[in-house]
Amino acid sequence: MNSQMIRIVTIDGPSGSGKGTIAQLLAKRLGWHCLDSGALYRLVGLLVHRASIGFDNAAKIAEYAEKMNVRFSQGRINLDDDDVTDLIRTETAGNNASKVAAFPEVRQALLKWQRDYARQPGLVADGRDMGSVVFPSAEVKIFLDASAEERARRRYNQLKEKGLDVNLRNLIAEIRERDERDRNRSVAPLKAPEGALVVESTDLGIDEVLEKVLEKVRSTFPDLVV
Ligand code: C5P
Repeated sequence: MNSQMIRIVTIDGPSGSGKGTIAQLLAKRLGWHCLDSGALYRLVGLLVHRASIGFDNAAKIAEYAEKMNVRFSQGRINLDDDDVTDLIRTETAGNNASKVAAFPEVRQALLKWQRDYARQPGLVADGRDMGSVVFPSAEVKIFLDASAEERARRRYNQLKEKGLDVNLRNLIAEIRERDERDRNRSVAPLKAPEGALVVESTDLGIDEVLEKVLEKVRSTFPDLVV
């Protein structure tokens, strides 16, 4: 399907910026589909880890990315016959995702997966390069940012709520390391795409961020009642 004819809102930003939460809330408000592109990179990272193929074998990793057998259903993610929904959310899985995401071959292999999500009545796409590479013709582009400390604090609270034992200082270091790799890689580096509305969310609550995004959506698509 031609994604240019489908309404698309892209939400890009670093890890912990709240883009996943905002993307899901927005998609729900609009009744649109939602793409969590980070989950695809996390799945590839998991495959590489499980198959012990080494994080430097770009061609082999891309092959796995292209052929992976994934099913997204009712909020759960299945890789082959295994429910990996929680497994791919760990910090290690995020770091492994960021390693495989640095390879152009892997990004290319995941392009089709991502573009297939563009379906009527519309798509909210969350990631790092949604507005710049995957859906460059999206009508609304948002870039959500927040300080590394604030993003680590949010992650800390999430993990604590799940009863996990975490260390805030380690989280800040991990977030910085991942940011560094995501912002400085040669292919599709993390940065605000041209024409994006940049929302600095360090001192904003979820409702305030969502309202800013909704304002932009309403002004771009005046026929939508949201
Ligand atoms: O968003 P999430 O934290 O799940 O993403 C995990 C990793 O996947 C990121 O750190 C980034 O390296 C990579 N990623 C990417 N492009 C995307 C989405 C995620 O490079 N569109």
